[in-house]
Amino acid sequence: MLTSGSSNSSKPSSPRITEASFMFKHSQSGEEEAIGKVYDPQIMRRLLSYAKHHGALLGFCIILLLGISLLQLAQPYLVKLAIDHELAPSAPTGAVGLPGGLWSLAIAYFAILLLNGTLQYSQALLIQETGQRIIQRIRQEVFDYLLTLDLAYFDRNPVGRLVTRVANDTETLNEMYTSVLVNLFRDLFVIAGTMIIMLRLDWQLALVGLIVFPFITLATLIFQRLVRAAWRRVRVKLAQINATLAENLSGMRIIQVFTREAAQAAEFRAISNDYYEASWSQLRVAALLRPVIDFLATLALVGLLWYGGLRSLHGTLELGTLYAFTAYLRQLYNPISEVAEKLNILQAAMASAERIFLLLDTRPQVSDPLWPVLPTSPLAASEAARHGIIEFKDVWFAYQDERWVLRAISFAVAAGETVAFVGHTGAGKSSLMNLIARFYDVQRGQVLLDGHDVREWRQADLRHELGIVLQDPFLFTGTVGENICLDRTELTETETGRFLQSAGGAALLSTLPEGLATRLAERGMGLSTGERQIIALARALAAKPAILILDEATANVDSHTEALIQRALSERSGTLTTLIVAHRLATVQHADRIIVLHKGRIREAGTHAELLATDGLYRKLWLLQSDRSNYLARNP
Ligand SMILES: Nc1ncnc2c1ncn2[C@@H]1O[C@H](COP(=O)(O)OP(=O)(O)OP(=O)(O)O)[C@@H](O)[C@H]1O
Ligand SMILES: [Mg+2]
Repeated sequence: MLTSGSSNSSKPSSPRITEASFMFKHSQSGEEEAIGKVYDPQIMRRLLSYAKHHGALLGFCIILLLGISLLQLAQPYLVKLAIDHELAPSAPTGAVGLPGGLWSLAIAYFAILLLNGTLQYSQALLIQETGQRIIQRIRQEVFDYLLTLDLAYFDRNPVGRLVTRVANDTETLNEMYTSVLVNLFRDLFVIAGTMIIMLRLDWQLALVGLIVFPFITLATLIFQRLVRAAWRRVRVKLAQINATLAENLSGMRIIQVFTREAAQAAEFRAISNDYYEASWSQLRVAALLRPVIDFLATLALVGLLWYGGLRSLHGTLELGTLYAFTAYLRQLYNPISEVAEKLNILQAAMASAERIFLLLDTRPQVSDPLWPVLPTSPLAASEAARHGIIEFKDVWFAYQDERWVLRAISFAVAAGETVAFVGHTGAGKSSLMNLIARFYDVQRGQVLLDGHDVREWRQADLRHELGIVLQDPFLFTGTVGENICLDRTELTETETGRFLQSAGGAALLSTLPEGLATRLAERGMGLSTGERQIIALARALAAKPAILILDEATANVDSHTEALIQRALSERSGTLTTLIVAHRLATVQHADRIIVLHKGRIREAGTHAELLATDGLYRKLWLLQSDRSNYLARNP
């Protein structure tokens, strides 16, 4: 999270910073609070652009809906005809039973009912399918885009929020596409159609029926506003529930170890209760709307019956028309409350869309250059010699603002050299490795790979040169073999096994119940940390990199296995540039060079022997560690 605004940033004008300051403003309760307008033409245009691939289908749905509305409008009219022309005392009657006209009207009415049902069914299926397809597109686009974002983005945005973005926000949009976009047309069409029919049938009666229309519209607008405010509270609380849930589930071990169950449960109960209150108050407000509309509509009906009844008594109004009016009145006021509901959905969708588009518009801080350098072909002999050269030129780096994590770092690593980095916790060793992979960009200076600034490389080409094993190895759900090969399907099982053995995994391989085909649980949870490190190392080796970066990669494997790994690695030394970060100094004593970092600066550098000869930080660290091992040797 950002702890200060964008004002003191060095690049206030970049779009990136604008986005960052937005995040800052909404950092605590999440962007969920940032709820925009009911309707934003710019967002709507963009939303519609997703629908344009399905324009024909949507158009067809609209036509179907118009048909459905027409059928709906026709029903009361048919009844009116039946009453006025067939059932009225003056109407001509057939010889026996029902009059012929009535029969045909009844058949027409029934046919309309049947057709209406069929159309509604097909329309519902069509619109749902279209909506799902559009949403699938958006969801995929969001996920694909997340994959291109730099790590700084993920430092700033908690996982829970991004999950909400991909899962919930896209679903809100679905409702927009399926129930608003098309149905709004129907509601407006029915409202307009009903009014027109009423006015044409009998304009005076129509005016009596419509007298409450402005009041209903007003009530609807007021309610919609109240519901919107309540709904915003619900969203914020829901976001809190999601975040709390995500954090507690991933921290379950710590909760149980420190017996925080009761405390966490209480915290969750409080948030959950807030959510309940918020939902409840929203429902209370929303539920009031319909009775209010019903009340007003009933008033209109009473007026209609009174005025229409009087006129009917005087013989200036047919009974069927009066009936039709009562039916139309119902048809008129139902869609109004539905329009109100749809406005709420529309607004939720606008807010979700805004958040999704904000994500899609995030410009990655780290991006590929327009004219990238071409990766050196490993086949070109003259080039091969240049493979795996790293140089840092006066590099300054900070994760935020000017809180320097690395200061004035300069060094060069020749191809095939093994260089170790040591230093206290927080000295900046992992950060330095992050810069080589260009997970972050430096603020000043340059990081060069094979003579080219890492910013001149395509990220994919750059990372193709690197094999990285991180401090906390990450394994995917899948088999051990899949985790080693990743997408390199050309590797045979024997080759994969050999990589695992080079990584010190011979013993591990023999204990795996199904060898390389053993399935791992989520994040490789079924393995010990050391075992995960071994597999991660095998994966890095299998990528056949020019440069191997080991960030505490063997910190959790036993000394025997580590010795095996070192033997395997030293077989490759000379061809594979290796950067090792380790706290256990025994791990790095055979490195060609050791660089000691202290508070983000290079304190000293040299071979193990050279550094021991000078009275510096390395010597101090070494003595500390060997003292301890001497002590352990003396007191087993
Ligand atoms: N993603 C991040 N965002 C902000 N600050 C960070 C981030 N990662 C690391 N830092 C800060 O940068 C500094 C250097 O961290 P780094 O991880 O490079 O240390 P390290 O030398 O690898 O330490 P260790 O030996 O514990 O692994 C630390 O002060 C840390 O708080
Ligand atoms: Mg580290």
